[in-house]
Amino acid sequence: MVRAWFINEEDLDEDRLERENAKLQFIDPETLTKTTGVVVQAFGTDMDGANKSVDSVKNERGYSYEDCLEIMPDADNLEKLMQKFATEHLHDEEETRFVLDGSTYFDVRSKDDTWIRVEVTKGDLIIVPPGLYHRLTLTKPKLIKLRRLFLVKPSWTSFNRPDADNLDCRRDQDDGDPTSTSRNIYIPSIMEVSKKKNRWHFKLSYFLVN
Ligand SMILES: [Fe+2]
Repeated sequence: MVRAWFINEEDLDEDRLERENAKLQFIDPETLTKTTGVVVQAFGTDMDGANKSVDSVKNERGYSYEDCLEIMPDADNLEKLMQKFATEHLHDEEETRFVLDGSTYFDVRSKDDTWIRVEVTKGDLIIVPPGLYHRLTLTKPKLIKLRRLFLVKPSWTSFNRPDADNLDCRRDQDDGDPTSTSRNIYIPSIMEVSKKKNRWHFKLSYFLVN
């Protein structure tokens, strides 16, 4: 089940969340999409069915690449990873994640620059639009397994705040309609063709269409 609520800048204490659950100002998924452009969907915990639903989303949105990220509580580099994820940043491509196991918080900026915390758990999908500042915090017990979906093979590029303020994708986010489904379109172009063991291989480059 996806939950979202407003938080203060310093509101990162999970125990406080448990103590003050009743006081949280929750936002429904439709309002979340209207105010931030973030799309969330709960596909349930029957993972066969849920993964098939994600496959449909993958086809609909034209994702051509995916991988799996798994972080365990005893990971050697856990602190370093958490620090990296918790840094406020954005991407020039949408960030799409499906939770296979565990849970995590995506904090996303609202129109008035306050934080909205989006909790995603097993079976939930989240799409963060390009140009929207966000950060990720692992919930206890620091376990997460995600399908990560990309339009093209990922460059893993993230832009931290405030360096990203002048990027085109950021201006799009500020000026555009947050419910718009428009996004960067990449057109593949064949750069090299070769034949190995009777099979053709194509090396592709992708060009951004404005
Ligand atoms: Fe990100």
